Amino acid sequence: MAVLETAVQPRQPAYQGNRAAMLERLAELDAAVATARAGGGEKYVTRHHARGKLLPRERIELLVDRDSPVLELSPVAAWGTDYPVGASVVTAIGVVEGVECVIVANDPTVRGGAVNPYTLRKTVRAGEIALANRLPLVNLVESGGADLPSQAEIFIPGGQVFRDLTRLSAAGIPTVSVVFGNATAGGAYVPGMSDYTIMVRGRAKVFLAGPPLVKMATGEVTDDESLGGAAMHASTSGLADWLAEDERDGLRLARQCVRRFNWRKQGPAPRTAVAPPPKYDAEDLLAIASADPRTPFDPREVLGRILDGSEFDEFKPGYGSALVTGWGELHGYPVGVLANARGVLFSEEAQKATQFIQLANNADTPLLFLQNTTGYMVGAEYEQGGIIKHGALMINAVSNSTVPHLTVNLGASYGAGNYGMCGRAYDPRFLFTWPNAKSAVMGPTQLAGVLSIVARQAAEAKGQPYDEDRDRVMRTMVEGQVESESAALFLSGRLLDDGVIDPRDTRTVLGLCLSAIHSGPVASSLHSARSAGFGVFRM
Ligand code: COA
Repeated sequence: MAVLETAVQPRQPAYQGNRAAMLERLAELDAAVATARAGGGEKYVTRHHARGKLLPRERIELLVDRDSPVLELSPVAAWGTDYPVGASVVTAIGVVEGVECVIVANDPTVRGGAVNPYTLRKTVRAGEIALANRLPLVNLVESGGADLPSQAEIFIPGGQVFRDLTRLSAAGIPTVSVVFGNATAGGAYVPGMSDYTIMVRGRAKVFLAGPPLVKMATGEVTDDESLGGAAMHASTSGLADWLAEDERDGLRLARQCVRRFNWRKQGPAPRTAVAPPPKYDAEDLLAIASADPRTPFDPREVLGRILDGSEFDEFKPGYGSALVTGWGELHGYPVGVLANARGVLFSEEAQKATQFIQLANNADTPLLFLQNTTGYMVGAEYEQGGIIKHGALMINAVSNSTVPHLTVNLGASYGAGNYGMCGRAYDPRFLFTWPNAKSAVMGPTQLAGVLSIVARQAAEAKGQPYDEDRDRVMRTMVEGQVESESAALFLSGRLLDDGVIDPRDTRTVLGLCLSAIHSGPVASSLHSARSAGFGVFRM
């Protein structure tokens, strides 16, 4: 094993400048996370507590094993939209009775916990994570159902939440619902489609229609408890498997339920029980990414701060040097790494990546993509050299690779580089973003410049003079728009990643993800079907 060296010099002005820029981005992230954690704000939180109820994060804390780590997903969902930051639901991976579970907890202090388009995306994503990684799902339910003003956007696609619950069950992945309050109309199918259901006495309301609607529909006069109270469901309808005396009792019963799953992880255990920590300080991760996204940085400096013992065996170190590939371990789990070193990807890098991805599949080793790319190289020389063919090889390999993938955007993820480096559309099991990172079809200056050239050519073709003043205004506006739409918080707000993370937490977050991934099998299906395929193509 080769131990990585470091050239990082904390006293250099570049280090200090990068660090200051990153801390600024982190302060923005912290402010956004604080808004999400405040839920519906003081008035609604106080009212909720006064009703003797717990907040979603308090419920999660009581559900999970004491002092165990909780990985919250997409905490700033809906940031920069018309909906409250956090999207009125908390999703996380937490350990319950030693079992890593996906937890979905409605936040009833935010518009009654109603489901808006971002709540839906966040909930669906949590279900995807549970299915892909074979993680049991625990729902902590208290929601006003569809956010009525946006019902048109969520009613029809929202059915997926219930479908996914039963598909998890069909895949042998248990699902549990604890109902703390409202779960009416469509929401009733969350407990309805779960393998196990617990309801809190005097609090749960699980019915297809409440008393007013029943009166309107059939004329029957009835009340909440007879229509959908916990005691009724536990004794009469049979929808509730357990009747909890209060919220804490409900969470205790959920833990008891998970204990009986008899759950065993299917992936191999970490190779070392106590992995050697990296040799270099994670604090430096604040200062490694360049404040100016146009200045590339050496991803080995990042690897030296996230891999076990800073050990990394580089593959093809002398070839296609704008992409670093190689093997290491992270919290004892073997990983194959692909990391951009100089922004642009050339044909050599694409071929090297293709070969490396095949090797990782043959070795049943998960892949870690560290993105910092401005895309594939353009220009006549490169087109003639077959850059599209070679990029296509890499995208083919990434698309059809069946070992688990993890992606972190460390700085830039532009153009088709986003695809080749396993962006969101390529289904990495988890995708996180550093606060400085950007992603878009191209950079703001380039995009505005392209628009300007196209407009100029159109004017020339019509024989009209080109308005330079308008062009300047247009370029400034477009640059501003693309700049803000490529930002980490903007993209995370739209659920295009699983969260923006503090760079110092990268190793911990990836370790938790690798552990979660190993709940399911990690073997490549290409590997098991190797006899029907080809050997690794040398590139
Ligand atoms: N869509 C949009 N907004 C909703 C909502 C929904 N489904 N449910 C609640 N809200 C809003 C309320 O209008 C209120 O807003 P305001 O404080 O600005 O006036 C806020 O959320 C809190 O609601 P409130 O009724 O004060 O809270 P509560 O804790 O006493 O009751 C509910 C919560 C969910 C039981 C109650 O709001 C309710 O019955 N909502 C309608 C449920 C429904 O019929 N949903 C459709 C099912 S598909």
